Amino acid sequence: MKVLIFDTAQQAADALADKLIKQVLSHPTCTLGLATGGTANPVYDKLVRTHLAGDISFKGVRTFNLDEYVALPIAHPLSYHTYMAEHLFEPCDFQTENTHIPNGNAPDLAKEARRYENAITNCGGIDCQFLGIGENGHIGFNEPTSSLASLTRVKTLAPSTVEANSRYFETPEDVPRLCITMGIATILRAAEIALLAVGKRKSEAVRNMIEGPLAAMCPASALQLHQHAEIYLDSEAASRLELLDYYKSVHPCGHAPPL
Ligand code: GLP
Repeated sequence: MKVLIFDTAQQAADALADKLIKQVLSHPTCTLGLATGGTANPVYDKLVRTHLAGDISFKGVRTFNLDEYVALPIAHPLSYHTYMAEHLFEPCDFQTENTHIPNGNAPDLAKEARRYENAITNCGGIDCQFLGIGENGHIGFNEPTSSLASLTRVKTLAPSTVEANSRYFETPEDVPRLCITMGIATILRAAEIALLAVGKRKSEAVRNMIEGPLAAMCPASALQLHQHAEIYLDSEAASRLELLDYYKSVHPCGHAPPL
């Protein structure tokens, strides 16, 4: 794991956006795995700004989102379809046929999950997977005790996730209880992974992910098994790391040290 610690949340988000921009500029027909959530907003803002400045095109890029709520209409303001359209796809030049999000309204959800998993495989897999992390250590919607070998499937949200995500909905009762999410094994198949975590409320999950045991209780700890996982943190999210000084000395301010 490459642990990159930045002074501010904005710097961490900008650095992760720069990684995605470099990926697209060097491989304009690459496949990106995409995340939703408040943490992702500044990353997408930078991609949009770069596109509007005429410095990047996403015409040839294929995307697969991590997850979607079940039974929330696609046009609902809090669906991940709406989130992606508003934050990234519509302001940029993505081709609709190249963007993929699980259909949480499919009549047969298990079949839809299998279809989605196969679609990722059939397009040659994900080159770079962007991730956030839940306060309970989830990635996508792989809640604690998810199988580390899991593929795309229907999951039930953990009560703590319902509570955390209720800040986006009017009441906790409005938060859907089911979702379709890429599995942990699906995520681990990406050639590269870039995870962004900011703020104090993520600091415990971040410590468990990086320094805790490999354990289904912290699904993000599965990233310890990945050969090319980069973790972008601000100082608050990094604040509980035991080897903080070590990570900072290896990559001062998130950069490679001068030789
Ligand atoms: C959500 C999403 C995750 C996201 C996480 C953190 O439930 N399923 O993909 O990374 O929770 O969200 P936020 O960035 O809003 O804290």
